[in-house]
Amino acid sequence: MAKLMEKASWQRIKEDDDFTWKEFYQTCGFHLEIGVNPLSRLGFGTTVWGAALGLCQYFEKERIQFSDKKVIELGAGTGIVSILVALLGGDVTITDKPEILKQIERNVSFNVAPSFKHRVKVRSLRWGRDHHLFPSDYDYILGSDIVTFHQDVPFILESLLHLSNEKTIVYFASTMYYNQQSISEGHLTLSQYFETELVCRYEAKDVNVYKMFRKL
Ligand SMILES: C[S@@+](CC[C@H](N)C(=O)[O-])C[C@H]1O[C@@H](n2cnc3c(N)ncnc32)[C@H](O)[C@@H]1O
Repeated sequence: MAKLMEKASWQRIKEDDDFTWKEFYQTCGFHLEIGVNPLSRLGFGTTVWGAALGLCQYFEKERIQFSDKKVIELGAGTGIVSILVALLGGDVTITDKPEILKQIERNVSFNVAPSFKHRVKVRSLRWGRDHHLFPSDYDYILGSDIVTFHQDVPFILESLLHLSNEKTIVYFASTMYYNQQSISEGHLTLSQYFETELVCRYEAKDVNVYKMFRKL
């Protein structure tokens, strides 16, 4: 049974507006350094959620090739998933609500060398509102622990439909126990528009990884 990766270590840092400590992760041969602030007034996006680790570990297991692929992540939080994808060669747009972007930019700067920074954009994308500012030709769309509250699902769906085309691969992961009924219903709603396959499950942490394609 697949076991979900965990942080390798953590280190308290001099507290600042964004972070209280740094967490360190080993995945795909990279050492990731992620600043977090669990008590932040900014809410849910300031820690690394289990589903983000589920996606990272799935990409490692499947050796997914992101070289020169155009990738966008919704509700990226700390940015860990997109940072990994950028290190794997992807051309990544990391999105979240405006107030979360500064911490993402700092986490990008901890991990992505200046010579690779052109591969990473950090932008505001509020679900159901800002997607028109983005193109519709992404190779991959990523999201972890964002299909949680039923009221968000129509807005996530609207953004997904705009950002994707028939070739786009969507990888979403969810920690099911956070809100089992609402999350299952959310994925069911998305599956009306996207062929959806449960491609991996991390049983002990109740994390599901889904691969989705636009229905024709
Ligand atoms: C539970 S956190 C997951 C963060 C990250 N994906 C992870 O797995 O570690 C949900 C994320 O969605 C973002 N979010 C919530 N509502 C949003 C909205 N309406 N538009 C865009 N992002 C939103 C939050 O700021 C937060 O970063």
